[in-house]
Amino acid sequence: TADELDARIRSAKATLGDRVVILGHFYQRDEVLRHADVIGDSFQLAQATTSRPDAEAIIFCGVHFMAETADLLSGPDQSVILPNLAAGCSMADMADLDSVTECWEQLEDLYGTAPDASGRVPVIPVTYMNSSAALKGFCGEHGGIVCTSSNAQTVLEWAFERGQRVLFFPDQHLGRNTAKAMGVPLTQMPMWNPRRALGGSTEEQLGDARVILWHGFCSVHRRFTVDQITAARAEHPGLRVIVHPECPMEVVDAADENGSTDYIGKAISAAPAGTTFAIGTEINLVQRLAAAHPEHTIFCLDPVVCPCSTMYRIHAGYLAWVLEGLVGDAETAPVALNRITVASDVADQARVALERMLAARP
Ligand code: 13P
Ligand code: SF4
Repeated sequence: TADELDARIRSAKATLGDRVVILGHFYQRDEVLRHADVIGDSFQLAQATTSRPDAEAIIFCGVHFMAETADLLSGPDQSVILPNLAAGCSMADMADLDSVTECWEQLEDLYGTAPDASGRVPVIPVTYMNSSAALKGFCGEHGGIVCTSSNAQTVLEWAFERGQRVLFFPDQHLGRNTAKAMGVPLTQMPMWNPRRALGGSTEEQLGDARVILWHGFCSVHRRFTVDQITAARAEHPGLRVIVHPECPMEVVDAADENGSTDYIGKAISAAPAGTTFAIGTEINLVQRLAAAHPEHTIFCLDPVVCPCSTMYRIHAGYLAWVLEGLVGDAETAPVALNRITVASDVADQARVALERMLAARP
């Protein structure tokens, strides 16, 4: 039962004490998050990774790319454990090293590699945190950087100081929404289309691009629509609509605000009591915020329940399983199978791109 699992997790965690730290993303189920030592958005969890160098194991209740990042930023003797290896991210899977490399080579053919008179290179690659370590390594190697939804504008400013244009992957929406807010016209944000480019019309396709967008998206945030916002506003006068920047541009434009999962929580906490919010992000977070803020009315913009199915794959049973594995002999326990280790040939460069991001934050 749920109570038994809860007791098993508490008991294993108490036995392990400071040997483990549990990190949990805001989208995780309540029955998992109640055991987390740190809860945060993807940037905060990346930072939290470095805050407990004494812990021998970091149990990451989130998705695969977040656990890879934790492995990159943690100490050499620490192990990062993802309780269920099937917890991936469909957006992160939309860009792979081969296709990004192919794109990059075509951009080099088009724009060359020589810096301009002010020292800016033709293209800087920027990867959203929601990407494989291999792509973070690609960015490290090619003068690029990582961003999250909470620092995308700062990171794009960093990139424009060093490059004439940016190749942004995998999330077209975060790239477009951020660049638009910075004043980049839509006509200068073409979407990379490998088929057209391979057909030989790269120049025509890309023109005077400042941000070249990859064709990835989040299947959860893509569900939010302008019609939902219109209907919610009609029903709730004075409604405040906050959406995640992974939503399509029209939705972000129709909302009152957009921001990372942490931003959404802070905006709700700071609002005067009695505010009504419609939130465009994953349902576990929206429901938790609604329960934590009885002084407000908070609901999800999508009337059909909207979970991230891969975040959802970490449930209390897996957390109990890995913790109990650590209590036993970690060499033979199932927990060894769930260790996330970034291959050494990409780790150094991936770390370079992540450290540029950590240093770029204002
Ligand atoms: P945050 O960085 O806002 O937590 O977003 C991560 C994510 O995967 C949103 O879908
Ligand atoms: Fe990936 Fe979307 Fe889930 Fe975030 S909500 S982890 S982007 S699939």
